[in-house]
Amino acid sequence: MNKKENVSSKGLTETNVSSQELQDPAPRDHVTVGRRSFIRGLGIVGATLLPASALLMRQAKAQQPSSGRLTRGDADLLRFAAWAELVESDLWTQYNELGGATKPNDGPFNVGNPPYKLALQNLDGDMPQYITDNNDDELSHAAFLNAYLSSHGAEPVNLDQFRNLPGSTATGVDKKKIGKRLTNLLNLNVDLSWYTRYRSEENPDLGAIFKGPFNILNEPAIPLNDSDTPPTTVVPSPSIPAGSPAQRIQAIANTAGFHFAFIEQGGTSLYPTLALKATSEEVLRILLSIGGVEIDHFSLWHDKAGNAVSQPLAGVIDPENPSGATFPDLNDPATLARLNLQLELTQTNKILPEPCDFLSRESLPPCSVIRPTSTALGGAVATVQSFTADGLFNGQPDSFFAFAMQLATAADNARRQF
Ligand SMILES: [Fe+2]
Ligand SMILES: [Fe+2]
Repeated sequence: MNKKENVSSKGLTETNVSSQELQDPAPRDHVTVGRRSFIRGLGIVGATLLPASALLMRQAKAQQPSSGRLTRGDADLLRFAAWAELVESDLWTQYNELGGATKPNDGPFNVGNPPYKLALQNLDGDMPQYITDNNDDELSHAAFLNAYLSSHGAEPVNLDQFRNLPGSTATGVDKKKIGKRLTNLLNLNVDLSWYTRYRSEENPDLGAIFKGPFNILNEPAIPLNDSDTPPTTVVPSPSIPAGSPAQRIQAIANTAGFHFAFIEQGGTSLYPTLALKATSEEVLRILLSIGGVEIDHFSLWHDKAGNAVSQPLAGVIDPENPSGATFPDLNDPATLARLNLQLELTQTNKILPEPCDFLSRESLPPCSVIRPTSTALGGAVATVQSFTADGLFNGQPDSFFAFAMQLATAADNARRQF
């Protein structure tokens, strides 16, 4: 229904039919009453059309972006968000080149890396489409935030001088971008504490400390090159037999599956911490609206990652890195007993946040919330630190980290003003 129809229908129902008419149960000629109401309403509609259209115009005007200058704090918040989105855009672009949809809804034709895409599809048949769409989102976030900063007289963020990392040379990559990456997906330590944290009833903002259910250490999340994972590799489905050459590419795809969720849970915590410091209502709206999409991303990837550690796929071991990338069955009691894990904190389909302590451990009931949302644990500096520990910036010079920390510190120090 378009806006005009909506206004007309409101005019005839809410404005012209009295509450008595709506509630009166006496039998009546529906057509006559409707016609009488309509005729009676014509005068009212005629009288109210102008104010209604004026109201619409006022609303449309109110929906125009503001044009004034940002407070320093708001600019700092958006600048760090832009930095984070440029980082996300770079890593998602790499994932998209190798594992994205062959025929995306928008964007260029994508050949991809055939065994990598098949291994990703062992997690979910729709993985390539999800990757492409997540990438679109990040590109839009970065472009929007920088455009908004510029249009409000604030300095946008440009990381082009740091696009010098080697990246993958495997079939599927954009050859023009080899050696021009901002992020490093070739050697990751993926922090999996989020997996346990969201299944727990405790909250890191109130002191709880979490450990992931297993480790992913020194593992690529994209194919390195065609020697390591030949593009002709056969990838069985739905499971990979032990000793199969496909174990390597499946371990890489599984790492990606968990890395997707790791990145997006970071954004899930980051945006609320930034929003809490916003002064302008419009900046608050930007942070809440983009932040909501990061939560959407996290929830999706949380679900997909679980498929790497449940049947029929569970049990993959990277033959090149068996101590760093082994994906256990997190629903199997015997496996859990061997790893000293509790099903409550590992069950793979428990992807929605468990109610947990919030604001207070004692005086308030548990509440299902995003966590952490403290500056110390989920803020800008914490985000830079956790992405750095992930290995995402391996190879970047000191000046990259200095710039990141400068933006992050400014964002964390922003304060809401009235
Ligand atoms: Fe984003
Ligand atoms: Fe994101």
